[in-house]
Amino acid sequence: MPAYTATALAHPNIAFIKYWGNRDDVLRLPQNGSISMNLAGLHTHTRVSFDPGYEVDTFSLNNQAQVGAGLERVSQFLDIVRTMAGKNWRAQVESANNFPTSAGIASSAAAFAALAVAASHAIGLDLTERQLSTLARRGSGSACRSIPSGFVEWLPGDHDSDSYAITLAPPAHWSLVDCIAILKETYKMTGSSEGHRLAGSSPLQQARIASSGARLDRCRQAVLTRDFDALASVVELDSNLMHAVMMTSTPPLFYWEPASIEIMKAVPEWRRSGLPVCYTLDAGPNVHLLCPETSVAEVRSRLEGIHGILQVLTAAAGGGAHITTED
Ligand code: PMV
Repeated sequence: MPAYTATALAHPNIAFIKYWGNRDDVLRLPQNGSISMNLAGLHTHTRVSFDPGYEVDTFSLNNQAQVGAGLERVSQFLDIVRTMAGKNWRAQVESANNFPTSAGIASSAAAFAALAVAASHAIGLDLTERQLSTLARRGSGSACRSIPSGFVEWLPGDHDSDSYAITLAPPAHWSLVDCIAILKETYKMTGSSEGHRLAGSSPLQQARIASSGARLDRCRQAVLTRDFDALASVVELDSNLMHAVMMTSTPPLFYWEPASIEIMKAVPEWRRSGLPVCYTLDAGPNVHLLCPETSVAEVRSRLEGIHGILQVLTAAAGGGAHITTED
């Protein structure tokens, strides 16, 4: 085993207030702040081994060697870490997700959060949480939110060094659960890096950005005071606004499947009938239903009546990215 090895674990996160569109695509400086919850139980586990004797970087995901764009993105990220450390060592990166990659859960947040922690540690850097979040952001914007624990806010900042995420409240603050309805994916979707580049072509993006501060305030307040009704209305509005931008970009991006829309129409009805639950969707057809832990069984049972759902995963608020001793 090479001497410069470290293993780290990170959770994916679900955005309550979405990040869509960059001010700087290379640095991944977002046009607006965002708020999310880490997803306990789902994780990426990544081992990084640097060795002065390696000639190239290698990357395996779930035991499958990656080549092309996947390897390139990891290698470019390692270049940032190498520059910070003043070393030119190549690395072997082995990563595994404990959730089905084919389920369409965005895994880049957990992937780059785990890679930032493992790679910086393995190469001998001793970074603060803020520095780790800043670094993870360079791999995938939302990865900066998987570094701190629990309920998290990404402060958009103006420069590389002041665009990072902080904990708003620890996981135990609120027993909210994300029930993820996994739907069938019928075609290959446009990835988020490309989506961020297209956001500015929508005439709605400016209005979305201009009004994002008010939604961030409402959402932060709802999280801090555990006000589910206030959270539900701002989370659904923010998801709908992001998808309106996606659908009105050039070219337009349509991520929903028929079952996504059926759930989005049913959930506000369920809420009006007394069941506390709300929906949000990322860059894919899966619907994330947020609800208090006490409503999970009822949400699951209502989802059984909807055709087109392959499975429902549940995740409570999770911790931050960290080094694991397991090797
Ligand atoms: O981090 P990226 O580049 O994969 O972008 C994430 C974009 C969304 O998941 C759609 C929204 C968000 O804030 O997580």
